[in-house]
Amino acid sequence: MKRIGILTSGGDAPGMNAAVRAVARKALSSNLEVCGINYGYRGLVEGDIFEIKEKEVSDLIQLGGTILYTARYPEFAEKEYQQKGVAQLKRNGIDALVTIGGDGSYHGAVRLTEQGINAIGLPGTIDNDIPFTDQTIGFSTAIQTSVSEIDKIRDTAKSHGRIFVVEVMGRNSGEIALRTAIASGSQVVVIPEKPFDIDQIATTIKDARQRGHQHQIIITAEGAIHADSLTQQLSNLGIENIRSVTLGHVARGGSPTAEDRILASRMGSYAIDLLLAGKGGQAVGIEQGVITHHSMLDLFNTKSKTDLSMYDLANILAY
Ligand code: ADP
Ligand code: F6P
Repeated sequence: MKRIGILTSGGDAPGMNAAVRAVARKALSSNLEVCGINYGYRGLVEGDIFEIKEKEVSDLIQLGGTILYTARYPEFAEKEYQQKGVAQLKRNGIDALVTIGGDGSYHGAVRLTEQGINAIGLPGTIDNDIPFTDQTIGFSTAIQTSVSEIDKIRDTAKSHGRIFVVEVMGRNSGEIALRTAIASGSQVVVIPEKPFDIDQIATTIKDARQRGHQHQIIITAEGAIHADSLTQQLSNLGIENIRSVTLGHVARGGSPTAEDRILASRMGSYAIDLLLAGKGGQAVGIEQGVITHHSMLDLFNTKSKTDLSMYDLANILAY
């Protein structure tokens, strides 16, 4: 192995740049050449590839977004496009790849590994919905950002004695919503993993108001119910003085937390260790503080687990 490629794919996540930096620095210090591939698998197929030297990854660890850009490129699920990607890698002398993205991106990495290009995946997504890792790169920052926005919302909520319904990202996962709910002291949290009863939520809010909680924060994950709709339904049930805010993509931007930078650095360096050991088709994770790897094929057969003890805790502490 002489030359490796790095790409970021799917939804971006804070800390992707720190991961790119770590992969590049570790590879360069292992006497490997490094190429960046812009716009994920689309850039791979189109040959949007450039060499990364030491200088290119300076001043990067603190930056949000991804300097390699990202894309959703469903064409890459087709063999014809994968073969074009492999041809581009060969043309550029690239023997192995590190893909930073979610489990969709891992599918592309497996297909490349099957076609002779060892590919390692790093979990770059704010959603924390990837099996075999306690945390994904970007999750810590997404929670931190959501909580600091909600702290501001709480100021105005308190001034007016209002209820605010705040929507955070999470199409299939309530992980962001749960941690955000606990850290922002919310009254109710609604997640895709748990059925909810709108009458019960209205009763909870009314009871809390009776106990003196004039202003309250309700958190909903986008995959459970949108903030606008929940607000309207609660208003129809007699909840007065209620507003909604959708944080959405705000949580995908911004400078990564120290925790995300450290996680990305550890995982990025480990990815090169795996490639140097001749491995491909492996997903890097962190389990009980230790950096680990698992076969992507095993990962596809495993469901990611939402920590529902956080749901119980959020409800208990809302009293
Ligand atoms: P994420 O990686 O965040 O889960 P996506 O599911 O959008 O995001 O996947 C990112 C990209 O990975 C897709 O746009 C596509 O280029 C590639 N990809 C997804 N599924 C497959 C697949 N089955 N085979 C090959 N490539 C895939
Ligand atoms: O990054 C994952 C995620 O944030 C999901 O929670 C969300 O549904 C999705 O991306 C939206 O991404 P986009 O707007 O880029 O399609």
